[in-house]
Amino acid sequence: MSQAKCLVLGGGGFLGSHIAEGLLAQGYDVRIFDRFPRGKANIHHLMQDVEITEGEFGRVEDVERALQGIDCVFHYLGSSLPQGSNADPYFDIKTNLVDTLTMLQTVIRMGVSKVVFASSGGTVYGIPKRLPIDEDAATDPMCSYGITKLAVEKYLQVFHHLYGLDYLVLRYANPYGERQNPEGQQGAIAVFLSRVAMGETVEIWGDGSVVRDFVYVGDAVDATIRAFEHSGRYRLFNVGSGKGTSLGELLATIGSAIGSGCEVVYREGRPTDVPASVLDISRIGRETGWAPKTSLEDGIGRTWEWVRTELSSRSLKKFT
Ligand SMILES: NC(=O)c1ccc[n+]([C@@H]2O[C@H](COP(=O)([O-])OP(=O)(O)OC[C@H]3O[C@@H](n4cnc5c(N)ncnc54)[C@H](O)[C@@H]3O)[C@@H](O)[C@H]2O)c1
Repeated sequence: MSQAKCLVLGGGGFLGSHIAEGLLAQGYDVRIFDRFPRGKANIHHLMQDVEITEGEFGRVEDVERALQGIDCVFHYLGSSLPQGSNADPYFDIKTNLVDTLTMLQTVIRMGVSKVVFASSGGTVYGIPKRLPIDEDAATDPMCSYGITKLAVEKYLQVFHHLYGLDYLVLRYANPYGERQNPEGQQGAIAVFLSRVAMGETVEIWGDGSVVRDFVYVGDAVDATIRAFEHSGRYRLFNVGSGKGTSLGELLATIGSAIGSGCEVVYREGRPTDVPASVLDISRIGRETGWAPKTSLEDGIGRTWEWVRTELSSRSLKKFT
């Protein structure tokens, strides 16, 4: 499939920009679709090699324009976050489910052959009965974000059944790394590091015992492309590190990776936060030969370098 033309929806964002870069490195033709609310800094280094289509996902004509001549779609666009999605489920359903469904209908109409979807291993399972969580575990999301992710997975299954659409679902754990918005709301590592860089206090929801599965973005992209290129019987894979890290342990690892501690304040836990989430990654390992390579400490070190450079360029821009 190396000559396939791939469209990365949300390619101006954190995961999408890395997926675009990974696909280019494998020799694919890449087009990026995004509305670029913060400019094109995330793909600055790719501008010579990719096509860019600026547009709004909710506008059918923009999506149609982006899909012209495309073989495979990588859907890495999202407009809500797990914690905020329960406050406005209608917005979540419209922008993430209804607009995705419209895109899938356009995909069928325009003869696109494959769709890869960024789902969420951290939310679709809800509170797990056992750890690590495998792909056959029960799915009981505790937030609208997880429900819409699951609904899109089901529609992909139905479109496969009805129209023969080829698809792949990746349920990511907690990806982190360069280009995760340090001033955003998602991604504990990016948010914690940016607080440290700005000399601010790190806020922890709960007592620090919440356990997450942090996977370095380079490893997540490697997993994605291996799964995309493999042709086995599975269309659904967990992508994580396979290891659980409590927020308390994360703070200690940040301290040793960057050589400085952080000041912490503990806030009341949030109802959408499941106590522990660690994904079983044996299926993708067995089927594609993938295994994560980057230790948490190394990944944090790389992210720290990027966060410091990024924040200083943002503050320079504010004053020039
Ligand atoms: N980052 C994570 O921890 C994580 C984990 C699991 C799944 N995911 C999923 O992966 C996808 C990408 O996540 P991310 O962290 O890279 O997010 P991100 O916010 O960095 O990137 C999303 C991109 O989508 C674009 N976008 C959003 N709405 C749009 C619209 N209506 N029209 C055009 N462009 C629009 C944004 O401009 C942005 O560049 C999302 O679907 C997210 O739910 C993320």
